[in-house]
Amino acid sequence: MIDETIDSYIATAPSNIALVKYWGKRDSTLQWAANDSLSMTLNKAQTRTTARLNRDHSDHFTFEDPSIDESKAAKHLNYLRTALGFEETLTITSENTFPSSCGIASSASGLAALTIAAIAAWTRSASLDEMEIRGFSKDTLAKLARRGSGSACRSLWGGFVYWQTGESPDTQIVAPLSNEYGKQSPWKLADIIVVLAKDKKSISSTEAHQSAWSSPMFTPRLSGLSERIDSIIDAIDKRDINILGRHIENEALEMHAVMMTSEPKAEYWCKETPQLLSWIRKQRQIGALKAWFTIDAGPNIHIICEQTEQEKVINCLNQSFKGIDIIVDSIGNGPKLEIN
Ligand code: PMV
Repeated sequence: MIDETIDSYIATAPSNIALVKYWGKRDSTLQWAANDSLSMTLNKAQTRTTARLNRDHSDHFTFEDPSIDESKAAKHLNYLRTALGFEETLTITSENTFPSSCGIASSASGLAALTIAAIAAWTRSASLDEMEIRGFSKDTLAKLARRGSGSACRSLWGGFVYWQTGESPDTQIVAPLSNEYGKQSPWKLADIIVVLAKDKKSISSTEAHQSAWSSPMFTPRLSGLSERIDSIIDAIDKRDINILGRHIENEALEMHAVMMTSEPKAEYWCKETPQLLSWIRKQRQIGALKAWFTIDAGPNIHIICEQTEQEKVINCLNQSFKGIDIIVDSIGNGPKLEIN
């Protein structure tokens, strides 16, 4: 039974789509990424997690989304408690604002929300500002969330977020690009997610990260990445969708080439994936759409375009593929914390 006298700490954290992918680790315990990555924070795809102190001997979890990996969440909660010296156990409930089991990874938003909600409960913080006063700035929260899932560290900010690997696991930096470029408002980009398959991954991304080093394409990828990142940051700064689009497509294809040439192989595509990629290219060639793709560790396709192009992309998809399953999202803000 829920004790109504105990506060609920409710964290809402956004998911993010990587434009430059984090793929492979230099240290898997300390979550030291093999390369710098850059993401766009999403608006609708969020996880809402509530933490309550439970005066019990163990943590309790209730996840509305059956695809959420409870053991990953439990492990991360134990890591946080031990690393930070807290003792109290928690009751955690969590739900995704995007449809459950839609095949869209929720680990970034999920682990970011869990980190914020749990620490808010332990430190009795009612807002992110209060958490900062108690020693948990967004930088600190990002470092802690990263230990649960690498990509979660980029979900602590809105807009475009840059995760730099630094010289050691401790000197990794995560920061929003908007700080560097001082733009008044974010570039209004859309992410139209085409859900092609909802099955559980044949190989988890945790496992596949490990095998990245075995691909003959991995080391060449690492040596060429800084040039690509510079071009992408420049394209974001100039708001040049043509240049951004060209680079993000090459980036996604390169990551999947590494996955497909690793041992064991990680083949995430389904048979419709390449068909849809060809369709997007074709629409561009004939001048019908200004839209580009990126793909995470799964078969589903994220179509990136300016929001002014969004309706055209949706109409065109619906006309070409009857009954196609799409989720329309866009660039969004960072996490929130409230108390109830
Ligand atoms: O954070 P993880 O361990 O789920 O790895 C994320 C890997 C990709 O989604 C494929 C790329 C990325 O940078 O988000």
